[in-house]
Amino acid sequence: MNRLVGMVLGSGLGSLVDRMAVEREVTFVDAGLPASGVPGHDGAFVFGRLGDAPVVVMRGRIHLYEGHDAKAVTAGIRWMSEQGVEQVILTNAAGSLHEENPPGSWMVLTDHLNLTGTSPLEGGPNFVDMSEVYDAGWRARVREIADASGLPLAQGVYAGLRGPQYETPAEVRMLGRLGADAVGMSTVLEAMQAKALGMKVLGLSCLTNFAAGLPGALLDHSDVMKTGKGAAQAMIDVIERSLSG
Ligand code: 6GU
Repeated sequence: MNRLVGMVLGSGLGSLVDRMAVEREVTFVDAGLPASGVPGHDGAFVFGRLGDAPVVVMRGRIHLYEGHDAKAVTAGIRWMSEQGVEQVILTNAAGSLHEENPPGSWMVLTDHLNLTGTSPLEGGPNFVDMSEVYDAGWRARVREIADASGLPLAQGVYAGLRGPQYETPAEVRMLGRLGADAVGMSTVLEAMQAKALGMKVLGLSCLTNFAAGLPGALLDHSDVMKTGKGAAQAMIDVIERSLSG
């Protein structure tokens, strides 16, 4: 893969930027996006290389829970598409619904539940096929590399909610019955926008904690961030290998 790969990094994988050979940055403001989420950190697109692969990383993400609408949340995906990105990696920090998938482990998204109540596609295009949002071939490649590197990699359905609060135990039981394996507050709208633009999408959840009501659930944002950072390196290696050759 020698084409430009886009990435949106959740709390788990921010340090991937430190592994890049950075070439240039374009601020969100210069790209016509809302100034961004991360406090004390201006959002920017960082162009460069990860290993051999040309990448553009969105540093900072725009969330519904900050008061932005679905169009604002996905503006970065449309901008990257205009820059020629046809493949995008979306990562996030998420709560695990399964005791077998403990904090610090990773899950590759096979599908999602968009429970945000909104869509970036309002106003068109209508009736986009969402039967394979997360590219099966790319998933299989990541699975092979993870297996070969001994990195445990779960797979499953990500439920995307608006937040900003974490779920109640009853909500988590409901999500389990709906078929969710992990829960978070991002990714689904970006994935829908990317799919509508014809991009290949890879989704990765860093399972930073158990969701509410599971044994050992500990829903403290700073612990969530810490677990994300600790789990990052092994997955960054897998991503780097999946982009080379
Ligand atoms: Cl448990 N829920 C949501 N909505 N987002 C999360 C999470 C849980 N853990 C990390 N991010």
